[in-house]
Amino acid sequence: MTKPLRARLPKDAAAIALGAEATADALIDAATKAEIALTLTRTGSRGLFWLEPLLEVETKSGWTAYGPVDAAQAAGVLDAACSGKPHPLALGPIEDHPFFKRQTRLTFARCGTIDPTSLQDYAQSGGLKGLKRAIDIGPAAVLDEVTRSGLRGRGGAGFPTGIKWRGAAEAKGDRKYVACNADEGDSGTYADRMLMEGDPFLLIEGMIVAGVAIGSDVGFVYIRSEYPHAIAAMETAIEAARAEGLLGRKVMGSQYAFDIEIRVGAGSYVCGEETALLESLEGKRGIVRAKPPLPVHSGLFGRPTIVNNVLSFAAVPTILERGAAFYADFGSAKSRGTMPIQLAGDIRHGGLFEAGFGPTLGELVNEIGGGSSSGRPIRAVQVGGPLGAYFPPALFDTPFEYEAFAAKGGLIGHGGIVVFNDTVNLADQARFAMEFCAIESCGKCTPCRIGAVRGMEVVDRIRGTRDRDLQIALLRDLCDIMRSGSLCALGGFVPYPVLSALDHFPEDFAR
Ligand SMILES: Cc1cc2nc3c(=O)[nH]c(=O)nc-3n(C[C@H](O)[C@H](O)[C@H](O)COP(=O)(O)O)c2cc1C
Ligand code: SF4
Repeated sequence: MTKPLRARLPKDAAAIALGAEATADALIDAATKAEIALTLTRTGSRGLFWLEPLLEVETKSGWTAYGPVDAAQAAGVLDAACSGKPHPLALGPIEDHPFFKRQTRLTFARCGTIDPTSLQDYAQSGGLKGLKRAIDIGPAAVLDEVTRSGLRGRGGAGFPTGIKWRGAAEAKGDRKYVACNADEGDSGTYADRMLMEGDPFLLIEGMIVAGVAIGSDVGFVYIRSEYPHAIAAMETAIEAARAEGLLGRKVMGSQYAFDIEIRVGAGSYVCGEETALLESLEGKRGIVRAKPPLPVHSGLFGRPTIVNNVLSFAAVPTILERGAAFYADFGSAKSRGTMPIQLAGDIRHGGLFEAGFGPTLGELVNEIGGGSSSGRPIRAVQVGGPLGAYFPPALFDTPFEYEAFAAKGGLIGHGGIVVFNDTVNLADQARFAMEFCAIESCGKCTPCRIGAVRGMEVVDRIRGTRDRDLQIALLRDLCDIMRSGSLCALGGFVPYPVLSALDHFPEDFAR
């Protein structure tokens, strides 16, 4: 007699990279041999990457996890799950895992638990409630709710989302656009990818709410070409949403129309900058536009446009469903809500940790992340992508929030934390920052186009033996010009990694 068994295994790109497809095949094979009627749902990832492929199995006492389960261990794990026998890879309920337990999962609540291709699963697990309310209360009340939630853009600049949306709603235009920035170019970041692969309908719902709020009937998702799994997941979800009337001329039978199209980027970091992204969306070379006019007044094809990050849109359904006050209650005074923090680099527990703003950098790296995976001492962490500052352990008491990081000369950006051990050379990293800027510069303004190349040369001269003090003064002067004179934050923020390296790790420049 066949025994029924329900299980979940991620189909997320990270899990696939760690062998999830072979594990799935081995599980199906073992189930057939053992006469188990296995229902294997392929989900997104729970975000505990060191445990991938992470298998969850439904037992009499609830869902229990095993990981990392490679193909060779699949049959043994299946046997243990069915018989209730102990297994060395057994982890218990994943929600009770210490890495999970300290989290507040609002945006990623569903990720890893549902079939991301199924709109029915999405709706049954609480999806679409925010959109239903948005349709009921109408644009003005939606704008009010998003503003009061305190949501700030999760793409890097931290601009208040409600204010941006209001600007587009009040702007005049025969057509308005919603643009989702899924370029996710920052080092050590992957939350946008995980969300699109694991819960794509959440992003779709958030974008439709934005359409209702600003009076737009079309949205574009600009996804980097390096994310083929996310592109496929979004295409499947958009097709399903059209087929079920979530997208189309009458969204959920309402008077609102909305549709979404995918556009794939061509591998340029600066195309994540919102105006370069709009140029790229228009089919042109990704060059930064001068502001004003702001995109909310004259954006895509000269029409009022909001550009928001994946995580900003994905936070909105919760805000609409549970209310602005509920969301604003998480985090700190000016950094409201939760932030999906991404731990990467030389860290034992690399993965996605969603929590209200406020845990210190030290807690995130040492307690939650478990310190370095190599066992070597941690020397620096770079927070906020390639334009973020390097923080030494002496600054690990900095709370993870916009203002606290700004006060210490840093930024939280898109929430990426990259950990470096004591083998790192910060003068190398400073040079790399300038080199990165030189390679990725769109070339429109002189401080960035020329300054980044000169910056590489000056770092090289500092590390030579002559005129070190003079060259350091020159580097600081150059950083000052780049910061104040660059047209966008690529050239304008590159001083963060360069000067933090120089200020906190001067000894590396003397080697
Ligand atoms: C060089 C550069 C690269 C950027 N890359 C991204 C990116 O990959 N994703 C993103 O959401 N924002 C990126 N931004 C920020 C965007 O310009 C913009 O602020 C953001 O998309 C607005 O969305 P938000 O308000 O929801 O954060 C980048 C900015 C700069 C200057
Ligand atoms: S700072 Fe660099 S990327 Fe930005 S506009 Fe100027 S040249 Fe282009």
